[in-house]
Amino acid sequence: MGDAASSGLLEGLHEISSVGRDRHRGGYSRHLWDPAEFELREWFASRAEKIGLEVETDRNGNIWAWWGPPGPDALVIGSHLDSVPGGGAFDGPLGVESAFEAVRRIKATGILPRRPLAVMAFAEEEGSRFGVACLGSQLLTGAISPEYVRSLRDENGVSFADAGRRVGFDTDRIGRDDMALSRIGLFIELHVEQGRGLINLGSPTAIASRILAHGRWTLTFRGQGNHAGATLMSDRDDPMVSAARAVLEVQQAALDFPGSRATVGRMTALPGGANVIPSSVTMSLDARASSDEETRALVETIAGRVRATEFVENSWSPEVHFDRALAETVTRAIGDVPVLPSGAGHDAGVLAAVVPTAMIFVRNPDGVSHAPGEYAELDDCLAGIQALEDVVRSLV
Ligand code: GLV
Ligand code: MN
Ligand code: MN
Repeated sequence: MGDAASSGLLEGLHEISSVGRDRHRGGYSRHLWDPAEFELREWFASRAEKIGLEVETDRNGNIWAWWGPPGPDALVIGSHLDSVPGGGAFDGPLGVESAFEAVRRIKATGILPRRPLAVMAFAEEEGSRFGVACLGSQLLTGAISPEYVRSLRDENGVSFADAGRRVGFDTDRIGRDDMALSRIGLFIELHVEQGRGLINLGSPTAIASRILAHGRWTLTFRGQGNHAGATLMSDRDDPMVSAARAVLEVQQAALDFPGSRATVGRMTALPGGANVIPSSVTMSLDARASSDEETRALVETIAGRVRATEFVENSWSPEVHFDRALAETVTRAIGDVPVLPSGAGHDAGVLAAVVPTAMIFVRNPDGVSHAPGEYAELDDCLAGIQALEDVVRSLV
């Protein structure tokens, strides 16, 4: 493994370690159809080619690398290559690289699979550009309307439809793809664990039981734009103050629903001058809880406590339980590892609505994720690849 081993990274992660580095935020910013994301797509194609897999892009922008003729009843393994703004090196790429490496090793033994197999990378999993997570898998499975997706806008106001046009991607063809879906028999995603769930359990890997219900909302607070020096405190209608109070209400509401999580990750003041009382403030809300009902109740509580002018739902992902039979198959192949719920969303959660799906987690030594410090030890990544290889062998 040479340099890769000395860098503490898997070979494939090492190869892409300079792609999409974000000097301002730290870590990586790899967003749909930006130059870094195209470079990762090229890396995917060349990694696949070296192993002898056939690459294709589906009409929702997801990329597949086939071992043997595509479908039906294929075993599909993979994850995503995009990142949050200033994200880590592992969330997504670890699953894609582990899938390639597991297939490479099995192929090298001369085994001929009894069923088709594909390595996959889903498009816009993080929703970092267009605000809605798991866009590629949601479009593929018909979980989201193509019209809604075409109308989504990035932070520069560019719609998904226009952004696609600019890079030669035909957004008229996005939407549920029954032909592609009919090829998938099983889906397995390996992923770095994103919380502290595997710390002190003495195992480098775990399997997933379920994913918390979650969603994203946009809150807008309107007031009166005005002069920061000439406007008396008693004369102000300052939406920043309402937004600041709302952040505290979001925190308190989540504390009132034990086990739930609510986050304001972004706040934008308009017009955004240091000497200007804003005319409006927009903020994001990410809310998650154990069940759909609890998550809805949490968000209703927040909506009742804050004084937002508008409170708009951008996306909703119901609680997901992974397939029991496939989880048992995975356990038989890799041994009795811990079983963990996931607070993070995944394409596997979307695929679970249409095919038996499982997830394997790789230990995260301090639980940091969606941040430059996200990390997994090389030995734990290798244990994850071994687990995936064992599962794939048992299924092909
Ligand atoms: C994706 O990683 C999410 O949980 O937001
Ligand atoms: Mn993520
Ligand atoms: Mn991920």
